[in-house]
Amino acid sequence: MESLPSITFFYTLISFSIFLESSTAADTITPTRPLNDGETLVSSGQTFELGFFSPDDSKSRYLGIWYKNSPNTSVWVANRENPIEGSYGVLSIGNDGNLVLLNKTKGIIWSSSSSRGAENPTAQLLETGNLVLRDESDVDPESYTWQSFDFPCNTLLAGMKFGWNFKDGQNRYLTSWRNASDPAPGDFTWRIDIVGLPQMVLRKGSEKKFRSGPWNGLSFNGLPLIKKTFFKSSLVDNADEFYYLYELDDKSIITRLTLDELGIYQRLVLSKTSKKWDIVYAVQDDLCDDYGRCGANSICRINDRPICECLEGFVPKSQEEWEFQNWTSGCIRRTQLDCQKGEGFMELEGVKLPDLLEFWVSKSMTLKECEEECLRNCSCTAYTNSNISEGGSGCLIWFRDLIDIREVHEDNKQNIYIRMPASELELMNGSRQSKKRLVVVVVSSTASGVFILGLVLWFIVRKRKKRGSKTEKEDLELQLFDLATISSATNNFSDSNLIGKGGFGPVYKGTLATGQEIAVKRLSNNSGQGFQEFKNEVILIAKLQHRNLVRLLGCCVEEERMLVYEYMPNKSLDCFIFDQERSMLLNWPKRFDIVMGVARGLLYLHQDSILRIIHRDLKTSNILLDSELNPKISDFGIARVFGGQQTEAKTKLVIGTYGYMSPEYAIDGKFSVKSDVFSFGVLLLEIVSGKKNRRFCHPDHLHNLLGHAWLLWNEGKTLELMDACLKDSCVESQVLRCIQVGLLCVQKLPVDRPTMSSIIFMLGNEEATLPQPKQPGFFIERSSEGDDKGCYTENTVTLTIPEAR
Ligand SMILES: *[C@@H]1O[C@H](CO)[C@@H](O)[C@H](O)[C@H]1NC(C)=O
Ligand SMILES: *[C@@H]1O[C@H](CO)[C@@H](O)[C@H](O)[C@H]1NC(C)=O
Ligand SMILES: *[C@@H]1O[C@H](CO)[C@@H](O)[C@H](O)[C@H]1NC(C)=O
Ligand SMILES: *[C@@H]1O[C@H](CO)[C@@H](O)[C@H](O)[C@H]1NC(C)=O
Ligand SMILES: *[C@@H]1O[C@H](CO)[C@@H](O)[C@H](O)[C@H]1NC(C)=O
Ligand SMILES: *[C@@H]1O[C@H](CO)[C@@H](O)[C@H](O)[C@H]1NC(C)=O
Ligand SMILES: *[C@@H]1O[C@H](CO)[C@@H](O)[C@H](O)[C@H]1NC(C)=O
Repeated sequence: MESLPSITFFYTLISFSIFLESSTAADTITPTRPLNDGETLVSSGQTFELGFFSPDDSKSRYLGIWYKNSPNTSVWVANRENPIEGSYGVLSIGNDGNLVLLNKTKGIIWSSSSSRGAENPTAQLLETGNLVLRDESDVDPESYTWQSFDFPCNTLLAGMKFGWNFKDGQNRYLTSWRNASDPAPGDFTWRIDIVGLPQMVLRKGSEKKFRSGPWNGLSFNGLPLIKKTFFKSSLVDNADEFYYLYELDDKSIITRLTLDELGIYQRLVLSKTSKKWDIVYAVQDDLCDDYGRCGANSICRINDRPICECLEGFVPKSQEEWEFQNWTSGCIRRTQLDCQKGEGFMELEGVKLPDLLEFWVSKSMTLKECEEECLRNCSCTAYTNSNISEGGSGCLIWFRDLIDIREVHEDNKQNIYIRMPASELELMNGSRQSKKRLVVVVVSSTASGVFILGLVLWFIVRKRKKRGSKTEKEDLELQLFDLATISSATNNFSDSNLIGKGGFGPVYKGTLATGQEIAVKRLSNNSGQGFQEFKNEVILIAKLQHRNLVRLLGCCVEEERMLVYEYMPNKSLDCFIFDQERSMLLNWPKRFDIVMGVARGLLYLHQDSILRIIHRDLKTSNILLDSELNPKISDFGIARVFGGQQTEAKTKLVIGTYGYMSPEYAIDGKFSVKSDVFSFGVLLLEIVSGKKNRRFCHPDHLHNLLGHAWLLWNEGKTLELMDACLKDSCVESQVLRCIQVGLLCVQKLPVDRPTMSSIIFMLGNEEATLPQPKQPGFFIERSSEGDDKGCYTENTVTLTIPEAR
């Protein structure tokens, strides 16, 4: 309760200091030595700096802390929501002993608002990046009246407590910036929720985007256990506090955890050599990290295709949606629980536990008591130990739907027990029992260890397959056709059976004696590959099965090499989109489905865990349409198969099609998944515009379609690219999104182009923020060739790259 005169005195001092102080670095702030805009306060080891700054594209001034070595990375901002206009800001200490930030007219913009007064207050920036306020007369140097570490913004630094202080009810959590030029709190938060058991949750507004799984006494159940690494994590869990904290052994390492304005929570390390921030890890790393991606009562497995599967004993609520990979409505029980005798539990291992929506916890029960408790209550659907340290204790029970289960690393050895009706248990028991019997019989009846091993392996393979697809029997069959069969099916390769001249050779329609229609591709004979190698490769490819790939039925290796595919009655995409009348048959929703289908097929080729296949000749004439106009990629059979780790190769023989080839492939013969992405981008822009990239003509310029799209994009007239016949059926935001993604795919540099998985994410998520595309490759390349004669005119070309490159 100081009197007025002293306030006047205090302000006089500040004004004084504005005019007298020069731009030097101070080491403390006291009531008589404030900090003006233009000056900075540096931490003792020179790591951090406190001062006034303006973020990118903003003129407003903020008081913040940043890295001296990386001045554009601010780790804390005082006046997030209340910027100062102009360079008149002053940070000082007010009469009540609090830090105050004042503007030109001495209005208080921000204050540390601590209730603990100090007689002799001093503020200092510690080497940890913590701005602290303390009483000089206090004997304990670590007793702070206020510290910035208690008020995190979007960054968690080493030594900062993340979580709860129960004594004052304070929860320290991260909030993203609104955007790169506005530090005001944005939509995203990353915090520890304590409802029942502690759990870290990433939210956008009130919607959950990701969660860590509950704290089980040893770890957050859904996060990988952090082994020895360059930082040491700890979790403090007692009656007063529950918080996470990390510390560094090597203080020269500069690292931070940040929740960025796009909602990505990541750990970054400042590279000592490049001075750039390298990402160590990020949450929401894969599709299974997306909250509730697979809907209720299902499990997400990132290495399976498709990634979502109903829990055992459950079936998709809508079979049709499920098959189209729309998992939102989740799964329901095949047989309802009836709360009668005989109900029991199915054990599920190594998963992130379902979200704590409707649940009950008791810290004192044993697992057995927990099971009994669950059986007593008819709405209980699952249970587990709430604490798994030292053999396990406590009881966690779920009621009703189980949401957001994913397969996690085997380190997390927590099992969950899911309630099952008696009939389902018998079914499971039956199949398990028979498997056990089979193995036992084998072991006791043969002496050959090799044989047993072989059988067990076979068993595992079978089991895996079964999970993935229902057509397992067909999977392993590749038919070897003899020449006579194919010859008679195609009328001796008659011209009337010729349906196209795709890359690598002519394609004939045929009808087998069984009545099955096939498409036969005769390969030109110049690859230099041996018959056996060819056969092996074909067998490998025949195992690839995806709704959006044309199915290879078999091959012929007698004299000539031929590939036999399923026949597609609707020919190829180019016969539709470039044809004035037939293009009407493909309205916008259908085109968007085609785009998504092609993207999924390509993703499958690129990311299948056994093979990595680069298509090398993706184009509209290689996208075939089935009777329902679903797209199927064809011609991947002669694509290049890569080993697991290989991502790029170089060839002297460039095979591809003008207009779809990426610059690095056409010029240098370098191909990679990113050269396919380029072709996909061309394809996408062609589907949206209904125009061919290479034959594109415009009265005003000589650019091809890519160049035209780029010009329209830069002029803000992007939508003009759209095929006029889509006007009535289009969803403008979706069209714009497709064009932007198309432009991202055709960027000149392979590194700038997104991968197929992020393309699918960007196309499918209205909310995803897309990067700005850079200039495309090959945008003024012109074709000088003759006229277009409808389908199948864009021939595959083979170029030979001179050795010297
Ligand atoms: C980084 O910060 C410096 C000093 O604050 C500023 O001059 C510069 O424009 C910033 N650069 C970028 C790319 O934001
Ligand atoms: C200074 O801050 C006060 C209080 O927030 C405000 O009323 C006043 O308009 C501000 N002055 C200037 C020049 O921004
Ligand atoms: C950032 O957000 C502010 C306010 O929400 C807005 O005025 C500004 O245009 C945005 N800046 C960018 C670069 O998006
Ligand atoms: C988990 O159990 C261990 C051993 O019984 C105990 O020390 C620990 O405090 C428990 N943790 C929680 C969160 O209950
Ligand atoms: C998925 O299904 C839900 C309803 O079950 C529907 O509302 C939603 O639009 C579908 N999503 C897509 C992308 O088709
Ligand atoms: C079952 O659990 C629910 C949720 O805790 C509770 O509301 C209900 O009363 C319980 N029913 C019985 C029979 O205990
Ligand atoms: C499972 O099978 C075994 C042996 O066939 C039987 O003893 C047991 O009761 C069965 N369990 C259930 C739950 O059906």
